[in-house]
Amino acid sequence: MSVVTLTVNGQEVAVPAGTSLMGAIKAAGASVPALCHLEGLTPVGACRLCLVEQEGTGRLFPACTTEASEGMAIATHTPELQAYRRMAVELFFAEGNHVCAFCVANGACELQNVATEVGMDHSRYPYRYPQRQVDASHPQFTIDHHRCILCTRCVRVCDEIEGAHVWDVASRGGSCSIIAGLDQPWGEVEACTSCGKCVEVCPTGAIVRREDTTAEKRPHRNWPELLRSAREQHVWLNQ
Ligand code: SF4
Ligand code: SF4
Ligand code: FES
Repeated sequence: MSVVTLTVNGQEVAVPAGTSLMGAIKAAGASVPALCHLEGLTPVGACRLCLVEQEGTGRLFPACTTEASEGMAIATHTPELQAYRRMAVELFFAEGNHVCAFCVANGACELQNVATEVGMDHSRYPYRYPQRQVDASHPQFTIDHHRCILCTRCVRVCDEIEGAHVWDVASRGGSCSIIAGLDQPWGEVEACTSCGKCVEVCPTGAIVRREDTTAEKRPHRNWPELLRSAREQHVWLNQ
């Protein structure tokens, strides 16, 4: 096994070749915020919260989708990166309708957690108050697009782990959204097996169980193990 050596915040770390910067950061005992990344799913680099800086060059790389290379020196928490991350999180809140007090995910929301981590106490950007759809056509689950941050975890888990590919991303820019089937009501998509994997991986209150009311969504705490067993042994531990 070949190994690459690099430094993370000045600390030298050796990782197997092919490891992502995210893996190297973890190996160095450090961490960066992440919303779209979930161990076990293919990384896509969508949220840009995990950007790190190559020391001495000012170049930024998404840690989840960049491979660690020999001799790299990266910094994870420069003042610029921290300011940038706070701005990115503020924009997430301004872009959707996040009224946490009335949300199923309140208290179990990764967007809330990241907001706390980056020190966000308010958004400096004007709220857009978009008018989006709530699709409650599925007998067990609901998707509220106002709370979707387009991380595509639902798309990837449905495609890569369940193999049903119910979810996809449609359109671009401000009209970009997650769609079920051929942009159908979720409850009408025959390919949906009602397995609930998309519910489990959604980091916010966008996809939830119908019976859950405000602040009742529970985060799953064992994601890497769960996804690994689903992928390798075809066993989904919570079913
Ligand atoms: S998804 Fe998270 S951030 Fe958005 S309203 Fe719900 S709890 Fe708040
Ligand atoms: S519905 Fe949830 S998991 Fe899917 S893209 Fe939106 S926030 Fe991510
Ligand atoms: S976690 Fe790397 S871009 Fe989202």
